[in-house]
Amino acid sequence: MSLTVYAPASMGNVGVGFDLLGAALAPIDGSYLGDRVSIEKADSGIELALAGAWAHKLPGNPADNIVWQCAEFFLQRLGKEGEGVKLTLEKNLPVGSGLGSSASSVVAALYALNEHFDRPFDEQALLALMGEFEGRISGSVHYDNVAPCYLGGMQLMLDLPGRICEAIPSFENWYWVVAYPGISLSTAKMRALMPPEYAKSVVIDFGRNLSAFVHASYRQDEALAIAVLKDVLAEPYRAPAIPGYNEAREALNSLGMLTTGISGSGPTLFSVSSCLKTAEAAKAWLESHYLTDGGFAHVCRLDMLGTRAV
Ligand code: HSE
Repeated sequence: MSLTVYAPASMGNVGVGFDLLGAALAPIDGSYLGDRVSIEKADSGIELALAGAWAHKLPGNPADNIVWQCAEFFLQRLGKEGEGVKLTLEKNLPVGSGLGSSASSVVAALYALNEHFDRPFDEQALLALMGEFEGRISGSVHYDNVAPCYLGGMQLMLDLPGRICEAIPSFENWYWVVAYPGISLSTAKMRALMPPEYAKSVVIDFGRNLSAFVHASYRQDEALAIAVLKDVLAEPYRAPAIPGYNEAREALNSLGMLTTGISGSGPTLFSVSSCLKTAEAAKAWLESHYLTDGGFAHVCRLDMLGTRAV
C-alpha cells in the first residue's frame, strides 16, 4: 500500500525572530506549495524516483538526494537497515529559495517513513530527527523551517528537551504575499554575510521586537505586531545580496502593505496586509517587477495543518 505525504512551504525567521520563529504557508487559491513524498514497500534497499517542477535541479545520483539520505538515516536509527522502501519525491519547491525547500523534502520524507513503519517515533522525537537531519545538510541546526512545516501555524522555538517549539497565536485576517524571484541563494552563504557579534543596542532591539511581537500575538494587537515586526539581525546584511529587494520593499510600502521582510535566508520576500485587494495589488506588482524566469508569487494564509497524508 502506498502513502503520500504533503509538507508545506515555510518562512523561517518571519522577519522578527531570527532562527526562533517560523510559519507555514498555504496559498489562498487552494494550490499546494510544498513537496510531496510517496512511500511503499520494496523488496530490498532504498529506491527513489523523482517528479515535480523542480526535480531537474536535483542531483542525478539518488544517494546524493536528501530524501534518499533521510531514508538511510531513519532506517539506521530504527535498526532496520535491511528494509526495502520505495520513495517518490515530487519536488515542487525551488532549492535555495527561502521557502524551506529542503525542510519540506526532509519533513515529508521522515513523516512518511514514520507512518510507513507504524509511528516508532512520537511527535517530539520525530521533530528532533528532522532538525538533526536538516542541520546536517544546512550546516547548522535551526528548527524555524522544519517545525512550522511539520506542525503548521506560527511556531516559536524553545529548544528545550521535549519542548523544541510551541505554536503561538497568529492573526487570522492577515494575508502573507510571498514572492520568489527565480534565483537561488545558499543559506550557508547568506548566514556568512551576518556579523559574528552584534552591538548591545542591536541585541536589545532584537529581544524587544521579538518579545513584543509574541506579546502582541497573544493580545491580538495588530498595530503593535506590525510596529515591531522588524529584522535588525539579518536584513541589513542580507538585503544588498538580494537583487531588487530594497526597491520592492519601498514599492510595497507605497502600495499600502503593512510590512515586508525576507523569508528565511531569501531571496523570497514576504509582505503582510489584512486587505485582500491590497495583497493582490502587491502580488501583481511583484510579478511584473521582482520576478525573473522561474519566479512566482502567491497570496497566502498560514497553513495551520502542517504536514499530512493526502
Ligand atoms: N533561520 C534561517 C536563516 C532560515 O535565516 O538562516 C534559513 O534556513
